[in-house]
Parts: sequence; C-alpha cells; structure tokens
Amino acid sequence: MWWWELFLWLDMRNMLLFIFAFLFVVYFLTKKDPPHFPPGPSALPLLGNVFSIESKQPHIYLTKLADVYGNVFCIRLGRHKTVFVSGWKMVKEALVTQANNFVDRPYSPMVTRIYSGNSAGLFFSNGKVWRRQRQFAMAMLRTFGLTKGSMEQSICDESRHLQEAMEKEEGEPFDPVPLLNNAVANIICQIVFGRRFDYGDHNFQSMLKNLTELAYLEGSIWALLYDAFPALMKRLPGPHNRIFSSSKSLEASIRGEIERHKLDLDPSNPRDYIDNFLLEEKHNRNSEVGFEEGNLVLCCLDLFLAGSETTSKTLQWGLIYLIKNPHIQEKVQAEIDRVIGQTRQPTMADKLNLPYTDAVIHEIQRMGNIVPLNGLRVAARDTVLGRHFIPKGTSVMPNLTSVLFDKTEWETPDTFNPSHFLDAEGRFVRRDAFLPFSAGKRACLGEGLARVELFLFFVGLFQKFRFSTLDGVELSTEGITGATRTPYPFQIYASSR
Ligand code: HEM
Repeated sequence: MWWWELFLWLDMRNMLLFIFAFLFVVYFLTKKDPPHFPPGPSALPLLGNVFSIESKQPHIYLTKLADVYGNVFCIRLGRHKTVFVSGWKMVKEALVTQANNFVDRPYSPMVTRIYSGNSAGLFFSNGKVWRRQRQFAMAMLRTFGLTKGSMEQSICDESRHLQEAMEKEEGEPFDPVPLLNNAVANIICQIVFGRRFDYGDHNFQSMLKNLTELAYLEGSIWALLYDAFPALMKRLPGPHNRIFSSSKSLEASIRGEIERHKLDLDPSNPRDYIDNFLLEEKHNRNSEVGFEEGNLVLCCLDLFLAGSETTSKTLQWGLIYLIKNPHIQEKVQAEIDRVIGQTRQPTMADKLNLPYTDAVIHEIQRMGNIVPLNGLRVAARDTVLGRHFIPKGTSVMPNLTSVLFDKTEWETPDTFNPSHFLDAEGRFVRRDAFLPFSAGKRACLGEGLARVELFLFFVGLFQKFRFSTLDGVELSTEGITGATRTPYPFQIYASSR
C-alpha cells in the first residue's frame, strides 16, 4: 500500500467513525423522554421498532403489547413516537373525557403529498376548516340521505340491483366482493354525484379498483414507513408509490364530475353534495373554512374512501360469519320470515321487531373489526392520560381492536356470539364497548348512514338467499389488515329461498 493510500484509508475510517458517533449522539439526545412518558418495547437507534411490528396483523401485535406495557404505551418508527391507547376505559378517557386534547389529526408527510399541501379534505383537516366541513357534510347526509327517507328508498332500490346481480349467479360459486362494492359505492355516488352507476360502467369500476388499493395501502406498514422516513421512501421503489398514483386517478374522476356539475348548476335546485358545495363557494366565498374547489375534490375523495370500503367489508364479513354459523343464518331467516315475510322489502321500521337480526349485525361489526386501529390523533397540548405524561404534538392511536375484544367488557370476546347484544328475554341491548365507529367529537360522521345501509342490505340479502360455500372449504376469519380489515378472497353460493 502506498503512503497516500494508507492516509486515505485512515481518513475514511475516521470519517465513518465520526458519522457513527454523531448519529449515536443525535439518537441519545433525541431519544430522551420526559418523566412519566409511556413505556414501550426497546427500540433500535434511528430505526425504532420498525422491525418488531408484525406487518401482516399489526393490530393484534399492538393489542397484545398492552398486556406487557399497560394501556398507554409508545412505539417508535424512526424518530417518530406514537402512543397507543388500549382497552375500553382508557380509550373512552382519551376520546370522550379528554376529547378536546385529542381531537386533531397529526401532520403526515404522506397526506401532505397526496393532498399537495394546500387543503386537507374532511378526514385530515383540523381546526375551523375541519369543524365547518364536518358540519356541512353531516348536513348534506341529512338532506340527501337520512331525514327525507329518500335515502332509505335509494338503498332499497340498490338492494334490488344487488339481488338481481346475485340471482344471475344462481347455482354457480362466485366472488361476492365486486357486487357488494358496487352496491355500497353507488349510495355514496348518489349523495355526492347525484347519480348511481351501472355495475358494468368502466369508469365506475376503475374508481372502485383505485379506492380498494388506496384503502389498503393508506393503512399498511408502507404508509407508516413513508411517514417515518419520507426523504428516503420518496426515492425508493415499492407499493407505497401506488398510494399517490391511485389517489391522482381518483381525483381526476372526481374533477370530471365537478366539471359536469358546473355545466347545469341550478342555484334554486341543488341536486347533491357537489352542487351545494359549489353554491357555498360561489355565494359565500368562505375559502378560509375550506370552500374552494381543490378542497371539494378532497372532501369527495374522503367520503368515498371512508364510506364505501368500510360498509362493503362489513357485509363481506357478514356473509363469512353466517356461512360459518349456519344455525345463526337459519335463525336470522326465520325471524325475517316471521316479521317481514317474503313478499315485501325491509324498511327501517322493521328494525325494532328484528332484535336477533339486529344483534347479529352488531356482532358482525364487532368481530369483523373493520377499522382495526383507528384514525390517528395528536395531543393538542401537554396531557396526562392514566399515569402517563403525553407531550403536545405526540401522535396518539386509540386502538379499536383492544376495545371490541376487551376481555373485561365482553363475555366471550373471541367467539362470534350474538348474545353479546341480547338480554335474557331476547331483547336487543346496546353495549358501551361497541365502538366500531370510534367515539367522541371526531367519531365516524357516516355512522347513521352506515347503520341504515347495513340493516337494509343485510336483511334484503338474507331474506332472499341462503348462503353457503364450496363443500370442504373453511372460510378464513383472519383477513388482510390495511386501514380496513379485508377478508381473504372467497367464493360463495347464493341459493334463492
Ligand atoms: C361500517 C361502516 C363504517 C365504519 C366501521 C366506520 C368507521 C370509522 C372510524 C373508526 C373512523 C375514525 C374516527 C376517529 O378518528 O375517531 C371514521 C371516520 C370517518 N368516517 Fe366512517 N365508518 C363507516 C362508514 C362511513 C360512511 C358510510 C361514511 C360517509 C358517508 C363515513 C365517513 C367518515 C368520515 C368522513 C370520517 C372522518 C371523520 C372526521 O375526521 O371528522 N364512514 N369512520
């Protein structure tokens, strides 16, 4: 080795040592937690717990961690800390009792890139924009949905389209997922776009494909990694890149609908959510509370993302649980036959007289556990939760799996058991720990609509068909976890009753 090579080698070695030491010092300086900060599994320098999170079933891993570290613990991804809150009592304390401390959503590099940094839609906005947009969306759901009873009629009509599509499959095994997705998405389409789509419509199908992909990826480990290491992930290939391409395609479809609305907008007769939003923007010019066109696109995107996959997947789990429990399916059908019969369609007025069916739908939601974690929150100020100190700006995840399967709240948490919602006389009973829609000021704004959809679609399907699967096939209840929990692909028979 020449002397200058030796010099270079020594220099390189020193440089590497210096970088290593520097990173270590940065790590220990930034790692320092304040007194009483929630405990958690030990983390690797700079990477955090990235390798310990079970990527297939993260909600189960995170629920079990509470047995080790208690109901308030911390997980680190890179330098980013997220406090997980577990169990009905502690989740209620965070979401309801201390609602104002945890009402906002945190900054997310992924969301900022999807939403191009300006507007934040419904799900990710905060402060006065969120308050006004949430209020506006709820008013629209009431106007075009629930109060006039028109939505009940639309759901019944859509239910008929769904049943007709299933009748065509008579005698053959088929995948029910595309049909359920079509039916449920068409309800949001009627509220937002003012029209339904034919199930064979090419644009509709491409929208649904992008929605499914986005709903999965936004809640997957890829999204967590993007938020923890944005500078690195931006440059790496991988499934996270599809988050941005799918959302761009969806935004383009929504923009197309908005342009069509502008052509024949009639101020005296707004037809749907888009018309009302455009009128609000035109007349009141209150863009400081989010009434501008960029935000309209994002609000529509959020209504589709939050309102179609969730309800469709609940119905998918409903088919799976009732095929796996044929005696429960028969009991539901006997109750429907007794109360409604076979000749007329169900209405919401039937619900009171169908306590067993109502209990089964609730148990499907509990076991289906559609949103296994929750929407992420952030501490708005320094807060004490339980015995732990949570500094302002810390991300907080109130874990819904830990509530829906809380051993101290449910008699048989891991078994499909409609009796969880029935008293000794067979009457329906509400349960406090039933939180599939979350709780508090930021709970699901579509809960009312979702409940009507679930009841009418579910009762309509089981009134009309007996569902089974291929002989010898055991349907899995494990599921694929993203932002929502999706059943593995499955095939069913629908035999007319
Ligand atoms: C079975 C069906 C559904 C389930 C299980 C469900 C569940 C949830 C959950 C857990 C959240 C997060 C709440 C939080 O952060 O605390 C949420 C938020 C939301 N949901 Fe739903 N949802 C369903 C259906 C719907 C429907 C039909 C719509 C729309 C019409 C909708 C619109 C929304 C919106 C816009 C948010 C964000 C609320 C906000 O940040 O203020 N959801 N939903």
